[in-house]
Amino acid sequence: MKKLLAFALALVMVLSMASFATAEGLNIGVCIYKFDDNFMTLYRTELESYLTGMGHTVTVVDGKNDQAEQTNQINSFIAQGVDVMIVNLVQSTAAATVIDLAAAADIPVVFINREPTADDLAIWEKVCYVGADARQSGTMQGQIVLNTENKGDINGNGKVDYVMIIGDPENVDAQYRTEYSVKALTDAGLEVNELFAQRGDWDQAKGQELAATALAQFGNEIDVIFCNNDAMALGAVQAIRDAGRVVGEDIYLLGVDALAEAVELVNAGEMTGTVLNDHVGQAHTAADVAVKVAAGEIPEKNYTVDYVMVTGK
Ligand code: BGC
Repeated sequence: MKKLLAFALALVMVLSMASFATAEGLNIGVCIYKFDDNFMTLYRTELESYLTGMGHTVTVVDGKNDQAEQTNQINSFIAQGVDVMIVNLVQSTAAATVIDLAAAADIPVVFINREPTADDLAIWEKVCYVGADARQSGTMQGQIVLNTENKGDINGNGKVDYVMIIGDPENVDAQYRTEYSVKALTDAGLEVNELFAQRGDWDQAKGQELAATALAQFGNEIDVIFCNNDAMALGAVQAIRDAGRVVGEDIYLLGVDALAEAVELVNAGEMTGTVLNDHVGQAHTAADVAVKVAAGEIPEKNYTVDYVMVTGK
C-alpha cells in the first residue's frame, strides 16, 4: 500500500513537472525567410513578444532569402535541441527536407506564411501549417474592383485592362492572389485583359519600378493595377503619382496586407483598397499551436485565419 502511495506521489510529481515544462520555459526557434519584408517584420515582432510574454525563450533568425542559409539555421536549432520550431520557409519546396530533419530529431515544426503542399505536411504527424487562404485575399481584391462604379472599367472600353505585380511566382500566396483576383472579375461575367504581369518579389522598390514601366508602356489603357502585397502597392502609388495619374479618377490600385501606411492611403483615396492579412491572429495561432505540439499534442494539418476587405471611409 505504502509502495503504491509512493508510486502515485512520484507519478503526480512527474506529471506536474511535465506540465510545468510545457506551460512555460520552452525553447523555441523561429526562422523567418528574410527580415527585410514589411509584413513579416510585423508578424515576427508580434510572434516574439507574444511568446516571450508567455514565459518562453525565443530565438528568431533571418534566412536572408536564402534556403541554404535557412536550412543551416534549422540544423543549428536541432543541434541546440529546441523544443519546437516555427518556420517561414524561404522556398516552400524545401518543406520535405526540413520535415525529414526535424522528424529525425523529434522536434515538431509549425510552418507559417509559406504553405507546404498537403503531401509534405503528411510526411510527419508533428508538423502543421498556420496561415491564411490566399484565394480569399485574391477574391476580395477582385470584389473591391467589382464594387467600383464602373466595375473596374475606368477607361470605359468594355473590358478590365489590368497590370499584375506578382510577389514571387513560386509562392502559393502569390499564385492564388494572381489567379483569384482576376477570377472574381471573370466569374462576375466581365471581360478582362492582362496588359502586363511581372514579379516584384514582394518588394516596394521593385513594385515602383514595375508599375512605372507598365504605366510608361500602356498609359491610359490601364484600368487596374493589382499588387500581390501592400509593399509593392506602396511603390506603385509613387509610380502612379509620378505618371500624373489619379487613383479613383483614372486608375484603380489594389494591395494585400493592410499595412498601416497602405490603410492610410486607402482612406486618403490613393489606393482603391487592400485586404487585411491578419498577422496578429496568425502569430497568436502559430504560437499557441507551437506550445501545444511541444507538449506532445498532435496538431491538425492546417489552421486558417480569415482575411478582411479594407476599403475607404
Ligand atoms: C504577404 C507579403 C509577404 C509574403 C512573404 C505574404 O503573405 O502578404 O506581404 O511579403 O507573405 O512570404
